[in-house]
Amino acid sequence: MLFRTTVIASAALALVATMVEAHSWADCVDWRFNDPAKPGWRASDGKCFGYARQYPVNSGVQFGGLDSYSPSRHYHQDPKDFIPCSDHFHGIEPGADETRQSPISKAYGGRFGVMATATAGQKMCIRWPAKNHAKPTEPNNPVWINMPQTILAKDPNQTGFTAANIAKLNYKNCNQIDGDTDHTPCGGCFDVPANLASGTYVIQWRWMLNKDEYYASCWDLQVNGASGQNPSTPSLGNSTSIFADLAEDN
Ligand SMILES: *[C@@H]1O[C@H](CO)[C@@H](O)[C@H](O)[C@H]1NC(C)=O
Ligand SMILES: *[C@@H]1O[C@H](CO)[C@@H](O)[C@H](O)[C@H]1NC(C)=O
Repeated sequence: MLFRTTVIASAALALVATMVEAHSWADCVDWRFNDPAKPGWRASDGKCFGYARQYPVNSGVQFGGLDSYSPSRHYHQDPKDFIPCSDHFHGIEPGADETRQSPISKAYGGRFGVMATATAGQKMCIRWPAKNHAKPTEPNNPVWINMPQTILAKDPNQTGFTAANIAKLNYKNCNQIDGDTDHTPCGGCFDVPANLASGTYVIQWRWMLNKDEYYASCWDLQVNGASGQNPSTPSLGNSTSIFADLAEDN
């Protein structure tokens, strides 16, 4: 009887642990579709050309599994002190270290993913795992893309990032996988502001699951100032509306 109770208690605990861990982060911050006419977020739909700070590209962990990796990739901000980019110590659930490095390039390359690059004014796409939160029964709060449009000597605080919002993306814009709402891939696109000088900018991905419950990822973007089109940039069509039919709820 005691054994049975223990087993049930452990199973319940394991379930709670799984649920606690099931939150999202920016998996790829420069996702390019193989065929712009068929946008999508599955591995077969595109490739990643840029990552968040110190992103472990050689982890061997499947897409959407880095919350169980060490250090965990998802960062749950503490509403009492919204440190915008995880420092690996603070937060309701601290994430992997995404503090700004000196030089900035130290967070990229080698065992980490490469830094994203863009031309001012171009469209960029971001990918994230649903982590069971793209189901119809879940709240649908947008992902905020926050990008100060000046080259800064240090990251802004959360107030500064929030004031620098440039886009709100539909969290549930996903390619649903039957029977696996956890690893379902989702994403959205935004326009890099057009009138930027060349240089390195910081961007924050921030998603509110419930009131005051925020998850965040940070990365640096090397911008080449607007001076015609970058030929390596894929044409992604006219607007994010071309993705609307991917979402399960519309
Ligand atoms: C955030 O940064 C701004 C600008 O540096 C500063 O004025 C403000 O007091 C800061 N807010 C908090 C809550 O630290
Ligand atoms: C983009 O918009 C233009 C003008 O509104 C339209 O002619 C064209 O077909 C659109 N292209 C796509 C891929 O939707």
